[in-house]
Amino acid sequence: MNKNYRNDNDDFQKLVEEVKTKADIVSIIQERVPLTKKGADYIGLCPFHDDHNASMHVNPDKHIYKCFSCNKGGNVIGFVQDFDKISFMEALRKVAATVNIQVRASKKDLEYEKNKKYYDCMKDACDFYSFYLENTQEGKIAKDYLHNRFLDDNLINHFRIGLSSSKDDDLFNQLTNENFNHLPINLAEVGLIRNVGNGKFVDCFRRRIMFPIKDLDGRVVGFSGRKYLKDDPDSKYYNTTDTVIFKKGLILWNYYEAKESITKTKTVYLFEGFMDVIAAYRAGIENAVASMGTNLTVDQIRVMSKIADTIVVCYDGDEPGINATKRAIQMILQAGIAVRVISMPEDIDPDEYINKYGKDALNFYLTNNLMSGLDFFYKLEKKNLDLGDDSSIERFKNTMFSYINMYNSQVLAEKYLHILANDLGVSFEGLNKDFSKAIPMTIDPVSIDDETFIQTEAGFKQGVKPAERIAPRAIPDKYLEAERELLIIAYKHIDKASEIAHKLDNRFVDAKNSEVINKLEQMYITNMAIDEEEINSKLDEDELVLIQNILESHQVLPQVSQINELTFIVKNYFSEQQSKKIMDKPEKTTEDINEMIKHKTKTVVIRKRDKDIR
Ligand code: CTP
Ligand code: MN
Repeated sequence: MNKNYRNDNDDFQKLVEEVKTKADIVSIIQERVPLTKKGADYIGLCPFHDDHNASMHVNPDKHIYKCFSCNKGGNVIGFVQDFDKISFMEALRKVAATVNIQVRASKKDLEYEKNKKYYDCMKDACDFYSFYLENTQEGKIAKDYLHNRFLDDNLINHFRIGLSSSKDDDLFNQLTNENFNHLPINLAEVGLIRNVGNGKFVDCFRRRIMFPIKDLDGRVVGFSGRKYLKDDPDSKYYNTTDTVIFKKGLILWNYYEAKESITKTKTVYLFEGFMDVIAAYRAGIENAVASMGTNLTVDQIRVMSKIADTIVVCYDGDEPGINATKRAIQMILQAGIAVRVISMPEDIDPDEYINKYGKDALNFYLTNNLMSGLDFFYKLEKKNLDLGDDSSIERFKNTMFSYINMYNSQVLAEKYLHILANDLGVSFEGLNKDFSKAIPMTIDPVSIDDETFIQTEAGFKQGVKPAERIAPRAIPDKYLEAERELLIIAYKHIDKASEIAHKLDNRFVDAKNSEVINKLEQMYITNMAIDEEEINSKLDEDELVLIQNILESHQVLPQVSQINELTFIVKNYFSEQQSKKIMDKPEKTTEDINEMIKHKTKTVVIRKRDKDIR
């Protein structure tokens, strides 16, 4: 039975019983296999092996069938499931229908059934890759590689690690032979094989160690293939790209396996790569998942926050890793759950750490070096602080103010203002005065995407009360909001995308908005008669989610007639940024002052307009 249905309630079990006993097993099997009566039983050729003697018995009193040759047997639902090659739920519904019982299917069940053929492709591919690793000459070399990286056979089995062959089409041949009979089109749709013309197919993964990627329900939906041969010039990893069953932004590597441990500890370790998750597992830490690269999504946070109170971010210590950590801290905070950070020493990742220092050392490091998000920011920014340079002090101070403001906490603010005052050698009172005047500013260089803001709204909805001093978001809402409204206008009236981009001088507050509007503009230029369905098919999943979210938050959609007002608001963001920059300059030239005055008047005008609109 599929795992999904295992947390059945009693009602469901009763329903299954009722269907089993009421259904006429003889006539249902007879529709598929000819039966003849023999005593109390009916007998026929068993369809599950090559039978010549009518070894299958069907007993209507006990509601079961049994083959006395191959030993297969069970109830009528199981028979239909195996004979018709369908899922349990589908079989249940089919049989229930013969006795007029309706079985409600959840959306998830239906989705699963619809995609079952794809899951089956993936499962069989996973088995083949395992087999290939265990039973071939190439497998021996790959295993040497794995053993050298301290991945022993237990770990290989646990994570179902396999190997893809170096030949062009081993997987294709295997999965389309008469035993498996998968359709090439299905294998291609899940990213396992590729059509190279003239009806010829080749495998997508070749000569790679195969790490299966499972969805949140534990089904294999993709693979990450790592090269293992020294002279292989290809890139280190090759991953399944998004398919009908594989949505990268929704998946957390090892989530299914880690779920129990996360639920128990209420804590989840978040790593960049699955090798780090494996390292943590070796060190006895099972509540670990990987975002597979640094691009953490709001959906992934939502998944974790359902079962955990705390997310421990443990990304690599290189620059992309640090930037990803900053971004993750903000996103997690805005989701309303706690965040802790571990920064690995010497710029090595947990996998390198365990191989250098051993299991106990990694376990100790991962359990004893947790710091708060603010500690992380503080340590990071302090590295750039030069106490002999006033502008460095100002920068450090202002950056820390912004970070402190993210937390909505007077207590934390006080704590860190004390630390800051101490480090700068100034009085707490003086610093606090500056703090209360602090203007919201963009936190550099973390780019905050729209998703963060969607999550912010959700966070506030969930009852995260804004404190007295409402934490400024990195980009004030009114600008983002105006830009998002422009995005919706461009989406609904694609012929206006160009005009909008032009009126903004192609400068956008948010990179994601810019990307989508430019994409829409491009679509219109290359294909003028495009309709909404076509537009949607050309947008990525996360872009569609963004649009969906904006649409949902608007009861009345913004109109084409608002383009001027809205672009005006967005442009004002840049004016304000500009004057802030000048204001922060220690010495101002006459030009600077004039610039400031120019922007000031603009701001006043906008404020008035702002009120008119809203
Ligand atoms: N990644 C990827 N493609 C790459 C590099 C990385 O998809 N070319 C993803 C993989 O999911 C990987 C994660 O980013 O797990 C982290 O990358 P990296 O730190 O480079 O890999 P490691 O986990 O250190 O892998 P290894 O130790 O085998 O080099
Ligand atoms: Mn590594």
